[in-house]
Amino acid sequence: MPHIVIADKEFQLYLSAEKIQHQVESIAYRMNRELKGHNVIFIGVLNGAFMFAADLLKRIHLEAQISFMKVSSYCGTSSGIQVKRLIGLNEDLKGKTVVILEDIIDTGKTIEDILFQIKGFRPTEVQIATLLLKKEAYKSNINIDYTGFEIPDRFVVGYGLDYMGYGRNLRNIYMLEEVHS
Ligand code: PRP
Repeated sequence: MPHIVIADKEFQLYLSAEKIQHQVESIAYRMNRELKGHNVIFIGVLNGAFMFAADLLKRIHLEAQISFMKVSSYCGTSSGIQVKRLIGLNEDLKGKTVVILEDIIDTGKTIEDILFQIKGFRPTEVQIATLLLKKEAYKSNINIDYTGFEIPDRFVVGYGLDYMGYGRNLRNIYMLEEVHS
């Protein structure tokens, strides 16, 4: 479907399921080569990454652990800086290669918080994979190891990404239509 309505908004087809699968396949291909011999744990960031993680991990042939976590907004440090707290991460990461799986990286604030906290668990290394990267909005200097698509700074929905909680189950990714006045 080239055009959909979710709640009160209209969206145009942006990335087809075929294009997405092709990119997911090529990320998996690279990971299978580059992470061979590593003691890998993949950690998907819920909710958005569930679809990307499921499709990607079906194509991973490494012996690897898989886990998921959530992040929540939380004012938690003594300095008073807003930090997103990690929820549900119970695995021992010591000595492991952690590969974080994100659906989208926008400003980079979330991935900065995740990386900072994951490093506290003393893994050997941490790598980051995201299906989508909003290059223009990205403010961090953290290197993203695997990127599916660089996209403009526009609202997208589908393939794990939501609008008001809806649309995560869509196979394609849709972009919010610009309103012309
Ligand atoms: C999205 C995405 C990242 C974050 C990126 O999660 O999954 O975690 O936003 O934004 P940033 O780079 O500007 O920090 P969201 O908070 O929408 O939660 P969800 O995955 O449950 O939809």
